[in-house]
Amino acid sequence: MGNRNSRNSRNSRNSTDKIKKKPSINKFNNKLHTEPTTSNEEEKPLKYYLPNDNDDIDRQHMHHFVRRYLFQGYFSAPIVVGEGFKILDVGCGAGTWLLDLANEHQNSIFCGVDISPIFPVEIKPGNLTFIRADLLSGLPFPDNTFDFVHMQTMAYILTPDQWHYAISELIRVTKPEGYMELTEAYDGYGHGPLYTKLSQAHHNSCLQRGVDLNFPKQLDNVLRSLRTITNVNTDKKIVVSGPSGGRVGTIFADLFIQFSSADLTIESLCPHLNMSKDECKKFILKDVKKELYQPKTAEYCVVRYWAQKISNN
Ligand SMILES: C[S@@+](CC[C@H](N)C(=O)[O-])C[C@H]1O[C@@H](n2cnc3c(N)ncnc32)[C@H](O)[C@@H]1O
Repeated sequence: MGNRNSRNSRNSRNSTDKIKKKPSINKFNNKLHTEPTTSNEEEKPLKYYLPNDNDDIDRQHMHHFVRRYLFQGYFSAPIVVGEGFKILDVGCGAGTWLLDLANEHQNSIFCGVDISPIFPVEIKPGNLTFIRADLLSGLPFPDNTFDFVHMQTMAYILTPDQWHYAISELIRVTKPEGYMELTEAYDGYGHGPLYTKLSQAHHNSCLQRGVDLNFPKQLDNVLRSLRTITNVNTDKKIVVSGPSGGRVGTIFADLFIQFSSADLTIESLCPHLNMSKDECKKFILKDVKKELYQPKTAEYCVVRYWAQKISNN
């Protein structure tokens, strides 16, 4: 399964061979998202620096609830989650979005896929399954499996080529006339100088890995260029950072500060800020935070892109 342009080194193997089964426990003390391995070798750290320790999981939970509040719903696509409806979340992380939805729709079927096993294995609703798999090796599902396929917050992870491949996989596993949706966030306007400096360091550090944080801005054009989907729509919310953006603005500012000041993020950022780790941490926790709490420092755009797979006729 998976379509043809998946990661070359993994193409030749069957997807079930590729994923070494891990014990059924959460590895909450991991410091890095890790790749599944094919043998008994130690897990290799991925090339991006999002931590997945308890703090990161807490951030994912908070991010989910603030996004749900912002959009007043779990998704923007015009779907009705009925009996037997099948929903997939790719790069599901701790599984917060799915856990919330699966509890609300007990007659529907939910599945989460993540390369890193930070999702719950035992304490979860019976209609929800998690699978450890690498999206970039092809999703481990046949074509046309799900009514709705969702992916969010992959901006720091995927290179432009990987975005194209990931989208083709999401569409492949969506049923004809089913929907897919992507949610991402990017910088808006009105940046203060310190925030701009930090944001630029994030961009430069990502570019070193081939990841372009501006890419999500063009996802609507990417989707519109595809013949396999139609009805491409955008649902965009602007969040003013800090207390002048209300409770949502304060939460977004705090999440950004927490993520930026996590140890692994600091390691990637400090060469781009020309600072030591301690200086970098102080700069983020004190100076940038203070600036973000001032009015008109920063805005974030949080965008949902959704589209419908064409019918077979
Ligand atoms: C920033 S987190 C977002 C988690 C969740 N979607 C959310 O919004 O809370 C990105 C997730 O993508 C997962 N991920 C990264 N590369 C992946 C890949 N190649 N295949 C599957 N999952 C991947 C990471 O392990 C991580 O859990």
